[in-house]
Amino acid sequence: MSQPPPPVERYETDLFGSGPGNISLRPLPPGEPQRLGPAFAAIDPWARLGYKADALSGYLGTLEKSAPRYAIMAGTEVAGAAGIRLNWLRGPYVQFLGILPDYQKRRLGSTFLAWLAHEAKRHGEQNVWVLASAFNADALRFYEVNGFARTGEIVDLVAPGTAEVLLRRRL
Ligand SMILES: CC(C)(COP(=O)(O)OP(=O)(O)OC[C@H]1O[C@@H](n2cnc3c(N)ncnc32)[C@H](O)[C@@H]1OP(=O)(O)O)[C@@H](O)C(=O)NCCC(=O)NCCS
Repeated sequence: MSQPPPPVERYETDLFGSGPGNISLRPLPPGEPQRLGPAFAAIDPWARLGYKADALSGYLGTLEKSAPRYAIMAGTEVAGAAGIRLNWLRGPYVQFLGILPDYQKRRLGSTFLAWLAHEAKRHGEQNVWVLASAFNADALRFYEVNGFARTGEIVDLVAPGTAEVLLRRRL
């Protein structure tokens, strides 16, 4: 007997309303995974790690109940994307976070992390987790200024010869 299809869930999370920057999270609009995959494959860390555009599009376009993907919106424009694996180690794991180059350093990433920490805490979670490549100094600094601390290094996980740093934000 064939397996039933996984449940499809839509997330319509208008989090930041008309506040500063009018940032919101939405399900990825149709066509966006196909547009964002090549855009992220062209920039580090994914370029350096050898991620293919199709793989990133496939990830962003997959509906998975326990791992929602979001478009990070700046007003009406898709400025980036995020993917969260829920219920990881007493808290969610940020599986994917990318802000497109034109929108970086406008606090979109920080606002996303602040929302995630707030929501996780509200649901009784104790941590938020993320991995960043050891060579990705900008991202490591970004997570550290957002309250994450390095908890360990995992070698040869994503690509041979590179290490991933596991970071934890206690809630
Ligand atoms: C890393 C990333 C998610 C940060 O999001 P962002 O919206 O650009 O970051 P913010 O504007 O919220 O930055 C907050 C702080 O992080 C640091 N920071 C962020 N991006 C930085 C960069 N490129 N270089 C140096 N510091 C940076 C700064 O200290 C900044 O504080 P400031 O604005 O007071 O100087 C985003 O730049 C990005 O997607 N980069 C490429 C992909 C990537 O590395 N993703 C993470 C994979 S684990």
